[in-house]
Amino acid sequence: MKILVSGGTGYIGSHTVVELQQKGHEVVIVDNLCNSSAGVIRQIGKITGTEPLLEVFDLTDRHRVEDFFGRHAGLDGVIHFAAFKAVGESVQKPLDYYRNNLVSLMNILEAMHQQRVLHLVFSSSCTVYGQPESLPVTEEAPLQKALSPYGNTKRISEEMIADYAPLSGIKAVLLRYFNPIGAHPSALIGELPLGEPNNLLPYITQTAIGKRAALSVFGADYNTPDGTAIRDYIHVCDLANAHVLAMERLSKLQQQQKPEVFNLGTGHGNSVLEVIQSFERVSGLKLNYRITDRRPGDIEQVWADVSLAESVLGWKAVSSLDEMTRSAWNWEKYLASQ
Ligand code: NAD
Ligand code: WQD
Repeated sequence: MKILVSGGTGYIGSHTVVELQQKGHEVVIVDNLCNSSAGVIRQIGKITGTEPLLEVFDLTDRHRVEDFFGRHAGLDGVIHFAAFKAVGESVQKPLDYYRNNLVSLMNILEAMHQQRVLHLVFSSSCTVYGQPESLPVTEEAPLQKALSPYGNTKRISEEMIADYAPLSGIKAVLLRYFNPIGAHPSALIGELPLGEPNNLLPYITQTAIGKRAALSVFGADYNTPDGTAIRDYIHVCDLANAHVLAMERLSKLQQQQKPEVFNLGTGHGNSVLEVIQSFERVSGLKLNYRITDRRPGDIEQVWADVSLAESVLGWKAVSSLDEMTRSAWNWEKYLASQ
């Protein structure tokens, strides 16, 4: 297949490009490099032997999107990663988030319809569930009011695709990621947060390497076994693999009534302290951390029911928590060596 990967120089996108190329698919990336760098293309080339084509432009520019689709005949599908993703920033700049995340998607949907590119895999998030009533959370769980404009863009995007798909003939898979962490085992690509990280794992590895003084553990008074919050952490390479399977499924699917939704997690929750312990185990280091107040807007605990992805996509996460933290640490050390 020939696949457009939007946001393909970003964290999850770059790992998915590697996976697509290693399965023999051709990739064209569109990215405006607002949160990634063109150097990722060379790194992907080192891993796979092929540097994917990169076109640098902003997907909110409708004419550029139409022009791109007009020039790339024979696309089999689109994996749409490109979006802003910082929850806290979205509260400060809500319109930036609505514009970037929703207008990009609208432009892509219209161009797909016009050029009869009819397979879409979309990056959604477990954030659409909020704090679920029961765990593990299934795809049937009611969606809750988003706690941030970012979260709201994911919910609206899902609805937009569901409204447009039957009219346009687009078949879509909406993938709800839980907490992606880790890096490619080669340590040639990984997560590159700009400035102070918001997410747990980059904060841990940056603290260990000496870029940050100490990790704050946000709350140890939750109703969980060790008092810290629980998430379903998933290796980014496992996540990448699911995208390839989703696209392969769409290419074989004769008909689809409405977009299919899949949770992507391991099906297990780990507490913040368990992640720290795993990091300390694989790195042999003691992490400097302190318990602080809860972070506003954080939920207590969530983990996924992944049986649907397993039965329909034939997908299952295989990496352990230690493999995730080890690969994240190897990536941080690689960055420090550059
Ligand atoms: P990322 O920021 O590393 O990658 C996104 C890429 O999109 C970046 O390279 C950025 O430059 C590009 N981009 C953004 N807006 C663009 C635009 N208007 N035009 C062209 N390119 C644009 O983020 P990521 O962690 O790889 O996330 C990928 C997707 O997965 C996003 O949609 C995100 O919301 C979603 N997601 C991420 C997580 C997570 O924890 N990382 C969890 C759930 C869902
Ligand atoms: C994980 C746990 C924190 C940092 C976010 C988005 C969500 C999705 C994934 C995109 C929590 C704790 C963190 C720190 C800490 N993204 N923590 N100290 O909040 O589960 O989800 O990323 O869709 O929408 O909200 O991930 O990595 O920020 O936090 O104690 O310095 O680590 O409280 O319990 P989160 P996270």
